[in-house]
Amino acid sequence: MIAIGSDHAGFDLKQKVIEHLKELGLEWKDYGTYTAGSCDYPVFGEAVARAVASGEARRGIVICGTGAGISIVANKVRGIRAAVCSDCYSVELTRRHNDANILALGARVTGDALAMRIVDIFLTTPYEGGRHARRLALIDDLEARERA
Ligand code: RB5
Repeated sequence: MIAIGSDHAGFDLKQKVIEHLKELGLEWKDYGTYTAGSCDYPVFGEAVARAVASGEARRGIVICGTGAGISIVANKVRGIRAAVCSDCYSVELTRRHNDANILALGARVTGDALAMRIVDIFLTTPYEGGRHARRLALIDDLEARERA
C-alpha cells in the first residue's frame, strides 16, 4: 500500500497523484488533507510517516508547497528516510543509494507531468544495498543515539 498525504498547497497535486496510482492499479490510502482549505503540513506528514514506519504502507508520498516542510516532519519519525525530489536523477539515486521510503514533492515547484514521472521512478527503482547498507546503518545508529 502507498500512503499519501499533503497540506492545502499540495492538495490538487495529491488528488492527481492518487488518480495516477489508480491508473497503475496500485493500492493506496489517503491520509489527508481532504479539502483545499488552509491546514498544517506537520499533521499530514506525521500521519504518512507513521503509516510507513509501522509497515502499514510500503512507501509514502507527501506533498506541500515546496516539499521541504513536510519532508522535515516525515524525517522526525524513526525509520523514515524522506527525500524531496524535483528531478528524475535525484529520485532514482535516492532509491538506489538511500533506500528512501518517502518521496516529498513540492506542488509549487514541480509541474504535474514531471511529478508523475518522479512518482513512477520512486515506486519502481530498487535499492542497491552493498556499500550503501553501511551508510544506512550509520543513520540508524544516529537515530538510536538521539533517542538514548
Ligand atoms: C504553505 O503555505 C507552505 O508553507 C507549505 O506548503 C510548505 O511549502 C512548507 O514547507
